[in-house]
Amino acid sequence: MMISIESAMAEIPLELSFDDVLLVPQFSEVIPSDTDTKSSLTDEIQLNIPIISAAMDTVTESDLAIALAREGGIGLVHRACSIEEQAAMVSKVKRSESAVIHDPLTVNVNHTVGQVKQIMEQQGFSGFPVLNELGFLLGMVTGRDVRYFRKNEAKVSEVMTPIERLITASADTTISDARRVLYENRIEKLPLVHKDGKLAGLITGADIEKRMLYTDSAKDLDGRLRCAAAVGVGDDYKERSSALIEAGADAISIDAATGHTRRVMDVLEYLKSETGHTVLAGNVVTEQGAKDLISAGANAIKVGVGPGSICTTRVIAGVGMPQLSAIQRVSSVCRESGVRVIADGGIRYSGDVVKALAAGADMVMLGSLLAGTKESPGQTVHQQGRRFKAYRGMGSLGAMTKGANDRYAQNSSGKMVAEGVEGRVPYKGPLSDVIYQLVGGLKSGMGYVGAHNLDELRERANFIRITPGGLRESHAHDIVITQEPTNYQQLS
Ligand code: XMP
Repeated sequence: MMISIESAMAEIPLELSFDDVLLVPQFSEVIPSDTDTKSSLTDEIQLNIPIISAAMDTVTESDLAIALAREGGIGLVHRACSIEEQAAMVSKVKRSESAVIHDPLTVNVNHTVGQVKQIMEQQGFSGFPVLNELGFLLGMVTGRDVRYFRKNEAKVSEVMTPIERLITASADTTISDARRVLYENRIEKLPLVHKDGKLAGLITGADIEKRMLYTDSAKDLDGRLRCAAAVGVGDDYKERSSALIEAGADAISIDAATGHTRRVMDVLEYLKSETGHTVLAGNVVTEQGAKDLISAGANAIKVGVGPGSICTTRVIAGVGMPQLSAIQRVSSVCRESGVRVIADGGIRYSGDVVKALAAGADMVMLGSLLAGTKESPGQTVHQQGRRFKAYRGMGSLGAMTKGANDRYAQNSSGKMVAEGVEGRVPYKGPLSDVIYQLVGGLKSGMGYVGAHNLDELRERANFIRITPGGLRESHAHDIVITQEPTNYQQLS
């Protein structure tokens, strides 16, 4: 029997991406500045903006993770490094601020001044409680005590402020009481002490200042910034995940180009049963992929195969799914079971964030939009009067050589088949400026649709498809742009 080309083609579904659609504006009484952009990664992990950074070595290390959590989102620390290096990055984020530091770095009386100077330089902290071997507080040593002290071999006990002269407070001191004590005594650090004299914690003036400065920060119950971290599906995932959890990671993300595989399910099942920790899994683009990851215990699912700006998977492997349809398919399954959806890749403008969330995502994962910020890893380079930073796919030859090759199931022959490219993106300045523009665009979109919050955005979303003519009309046209606004660039 002959099958006509028309009927064969009719059986191939048409799937769409961000540029293929627009949201229809609706009657609205919502003012953008009144909208609420809160989202969550799980029931426990609440965020003030629906943004997570990509686990890429040109995007997320501690500086960017700290900056993003301060804005209310969460950073996903990459894994193209040793387990120790990655755990140290997570630890740096988790230690960067807290309401009360319950396990501050401490020294003992036998440390030398030289050793204390070295610890200060390595850890970036300027003061430590001094303990004896039983954990009793004996004093405090700060930068001021050691900075100009020449005898590096002298013992800490010679320079510290001893307990008799130290201002301390009881273990149950509240933050507002601590603030008063710090101010009245013009001190920077307040050790908290149990009744028996053992150290209970530390409150610092710097942490209190940050609480007042970054009011939208995403924090855990101890007031520490939120942070997630990636593991692969290679041999080290058990060791890596336990080091990351130990370092304080709020969630572990399984990093694989396709998450609909036996191997990812096995790693996911192991992590859930052995650690009980929050696990983000992916990436998938189909309903069945989502169902299988949910059955294996995923708390949130990452959506996207090949939409990323540096991805060549669709061209090299011929596989993928336009991102808007992928989000709709996966979220149709996840919503029933309360599992969160992370739209990973392909976001180029704030309008794409609005479309991704309206299509069903709880969060967007950003690579290229956050690469090139002041806080992203790497140096800024100057070229023809403009500033740039490097950005590369984790499936690029450079990144795979550095250790991300199991993401693309490469063999050990040493000859790799790349699924990503390496390049550069314009320098964008501080992350907070980029987030301001993205969230501003999101709030504007919510205003047009009449949505007070992200749930309403999803409920009220009314997509229409547009033609290439409609897309041309959507962009700035018939003008040579002389003054590029920071939130819009004509991309090739
Ligand atoms: P954007 O568009 O934000 O995408 O730059 C970031 C996401 O792209 C994925 N990723 C890759 N996909 N080859 C791929 O096919 C790669 O080399 C590659 N590196 C990253 C990843 O999901 C990231 O979050």
